[in-house]
Amino acid sequence: MTIFIVLLGPPGAGKGTQAKVVSKTLNVPHISSGDIFRENFNNQTSLGKVAQGYIQRGELVPDDITIAMVRDRLSKPDCAQGAILDGFPRTTAQAKALDNLLEEFSHAVDVVCYMKVPQAVLLERLTGRWTCREKGHIYHERNNPPKQRGLCDIDGSELYQREDDQVETVKRRIQVYFEQTAPLITYYQDRGLLVEVDGARSVGQVTDQLLTIAKRVQRKDDGA
Ligand code: AP5
Repeated sequence: MTIFIVLLGPPGAGKGTQAKVVSKTLNVPHISSGDIFRENFNNQTSLGKVAQGYIQRGELVPDDITIAMVRDRLSKPDCAQGAILDGFPRTTAQAKALDNLLEEFSHAVDVVCYMKVPQAVLLERLTGRWTCREKGHIYHERNNPPKQRGLCDIDGSELYQREDDQVETVKRRIQVYFEQTAPLITYYQDRGLLVEVDGARSVGQVTDQLLTIAKRVQRKDDGA
């Protein structure tokens, strides 16, 4: 049985936080387009260098570059049973490309969880976020602080603040989300795939709801 879940929502909605837990529980990979771009930048690949300029400005990386990158990732054997997609698709062109891509592998998007969070909360979450350098584990200085300041609880690596979490860049990212990504809410609603999740609740409550949705999808696939 396969399961492909898209986590859709604005910057700071909690997509990365939730994708890490849900992917572990369902035993499918977590595919974050933002993480892949950052990893490429850290390794100084040509893709990483191109993407970095867009990321620093809070703009989207062009569709052709992003789609090729995700296509490559989804064609890896570990995606045969499904994936949790975090931050992709982000434009209608990317959503259409995802449909075609999954169809090539005889798969389809099973459900799109739209994580809704008020704008004021997003700003507070992103400007207080700390990320681990080694594996991208996510913390927040007030909501979810590490046990030891500046160090990841899980792997002990250094925590850093993402360059694109500066207030002005966050505001631009939110604006870009409303202009280019929010139309996907209707796109997936029209296809009967959208489920709304209240992303403003606690991390645990949001995880519970996402896992309930995933179980429902799996039961439907089983014919229950
Ligand atoms: P990306 O890395 O995908 O960033 P994003 O979508 O803007 O999302 P974030 O990672 O900022 O937030 P999140 O929703 O994952 O929240 P998180 O769990 O960390 O993309 C970065 C850039 O890459 C883009 O701007 C673009 O340039 C480029 N890019 C990426 N994908 C692209 C694409 N498909 N096309 C083109 N360009 C692309 O949580 C945030 C904070 O809140 C944390 O501190 C966390 O601890 C806290 N928190 C989380 N949940 C809760 C909760 N329930 N209660 C309290 N606090 C919480």
